[in-house]
Amino acid sequence: MPEASPWNAERAQEIIAEHIELEGPMLPILHALQEEFGHIHTDAVPLIADALNLSRAEVHGVVTFYHDFRDAPCGRHVLQLCRGEACQSVGSEALAATVLNNLGVGWHGTTHDGDLTVEPVYCLGLCANSPSGLLDGEPHGRLNAGKITEILEEAYAS
Ligand code: FES
Repeated sequence: MPEASPWNAERAQEIIAEHIELEGPMLPILHALQEEFGHIHTDAVPLIADALNLSRAEVHGVVTFYHDFRDAPCGRHVLQLCRGEACQSVGSEALAATVLNNLGVGWHGTTHDGDLTVEPVYCLGLCANSPSGLLDGEPHGRLNAGKITEILEEAYAS
């Protein structure tokens, strides 16, 4: 994963200002903040709310509604497993349950060593290769528990 910068309110204000003139600026602001800081820091919520003249609850609602946004820093690697319909039809839920259980985390959880965060995604457009997922943004298809272990080992070794 790209190295995230530590939280910095001034930099966050700059990012908000860079995107505020866009039509529908909320999502571009959130994406830009997450790209910079790796997650949506709690202190970003009031800054966005003030800038867009919204309540903090409204901003928080958007952050929690979209699966793209995380409210805590992620691990060194991020495994995203698809929970879309095509993937579910070939057993993605059972596969995810096994993976989460083996790692001892829930969805959005990070392993104790900080190595890996597991997140859900909803259709990556790789339905023909279901069950599918992304590891650090790289697509992988026809996943099973063995293949996931393999790609994780490769990522840890690199
Ligand atoms: S449903 Fe998983 S890639 Fe489309």
